[in-house]
Amino acid sequence: MKGFRKDFLWGGATAANQYEGAWDVDGKGPSVSDMCTNGSHTTPKRVTREFEEGTLYPSREATDFYHHYQEDIALAAEMGFKCFRMSIAWTRIFPTGMEKEPNEAGLAFYDKVFDECRKYDIEPLVTISHYEMPYALVEKCNGWEGRECIEYYMNYCKAVFERYKDKVKYWLTFNEINSGTMPMGNVLSLGTIKGYTGSVMETPDNPQIRFQALHHQFVASALAVQYAHIHYPQFMMGNMCIFATMYPYTCNPDDIIETQKQMQMMNWFSSDIHVRGYYPSYSERFFEENHITIRKEPEDDEILKKGTVDFYTFSYYMSNCVSTDPEVKAQSGGNLMGGVTNPYLKASDWGWQIDPKGLRYTLNELYGRYQIPLMVVENGLGAYDKLEEDGSIHDDYRIGYLREHIREMKEAVKDGVDLMGYTPWGWIDVVSASTGEMAKRYGFVYVDKYDDGTGDLGRRKKDSFWWYKKVIASNGEDLD
Ligand code: BG6
Repeated sequence: MKGFRKDFLWGGATAANQYEGAWDVDGKGPSVSDMCTNGSHTTPKRVTREFEEGTLYPSREATDFYHHYQEDIALAAEMGFKCFRMSIAWTRIFPTGMEKEPNEAGLAFYDKVFDECRKYDIEPLVTISHYEMPYALVEKCNGWEGRECIEYYMNYCKAVFERYKDKVKYWLTFNEINSGTMPMGNVLSLGTIKGYTGSVMETPDNPQIRFQALHHQFVASALAVQYAHIHYPQFMMGNMCIFATMYPYTCNPDDIIETQKQMQMMNWFSSDIHVRGYYPSYSERFFEENHITIRKEPEDDEILKKGTVDFYTFSYYMSNCVSTDPEVKAQSGGNLMGGVTNPYLKASDWGWQIDPKGLRYTLNELYGRYQIPLMVVENGLGAYDKLEEDGSIHDDYRIGYLREHIREMKEAVKDGVDLMGYTPWGWIDVVSASTGEMAKRYGFVYVDKYDDGTGDLGRRKKDSFWWYKKVIASNGEDLD
């Protein structure tokens, strides 16, 4: 029976905005995430136009990869990582996004990071834009609503492609680009929050603007892919989507149709464009019914067609159900969207429903549709960890979650899915994207950093560290 490929990319994932810190060091400019305060499971984080004295902005220090990169990459190497998914902070390279020349100190930092990875034979997988954009572009053109962002993004891509062409092979154009199909995308990925101060859950939302901004991202992504294919044929260019798997709550055909509709616009729409190179037919009706008109330049369709990706990557944390019955309430949580609770599943402390078999199902659906290599670039359990007096952290709940998901990935491989790798989220503790908390931890490595901003940033190995090391060493065979 088939197992994981011999060159399977085992590793872990992070993002600059939640991990790097050093938000204003060596010429870095402020990004949207630097303007976000902390929050909690019950109190949403806020985005502020001006810096508010006495307020905590957790991304500004985060868990300080900037000053710990050698120690952290050594820890990754000790676990046997083959791959490290990370992102470059756009504002470290172009502090306002609009400069003509890149910031040399920013470029030099990632040189050191990639050299350190190479020292241990760890393949970097780089997300070009992960939930941050220069805040100056929010003020200039309402983020991605402004078509000029395409040019700014391309300047950034060209600078990093050229600089790291011998150090990085795998690139992802945008993290979870389909977050732009939902109101939360205004803050997280689109920057369509000009002049706004307030809760990230209540940003002014105009679907016309949001989908127009998303269109600009699709064009930017396709241009970056096309440019890379022409100038750097050794690169592998991927997209990245959230896959929020949905099941009909009942076999009532109304639930089936509603689930299909939601799956189309949430999960398939963006990647259909990335992989196939054109807007899917079902989106026309959605735009019509929601009074959305996408303004395209004459060249856009051709750009989308020429910029299709080489591999598809996604985050998978949970699944939800969909119901058309007004009596059935949507109560479960999820990354960016909740849904109806599935009575067959348990949930995390944040209400995200744990569904390993859903990952096998999703991998099969994806591969059946696209027939290109897939990679799970985020998965994991956000949980409260207890630091024992002797410095140990016994996170058997995390091991259990990951074990079951890896088992189901293996089943999917046996089903015939071409799976390239697996990089669980936040392999070292980072700030939570949805809540701005430190208490919601995913890592194999604990970082001494807390929600009030205190902590000495010391690193400690959790039980899962040793477990994952064994998993990698056995290429996914030893999961006990
Ligand atoms: C994904 C994002 O949505 O989920 C990450 O790409 C994020 O940036 C991760 O951190 C987990 O979500 P959260 O809200 O628990 O940090």
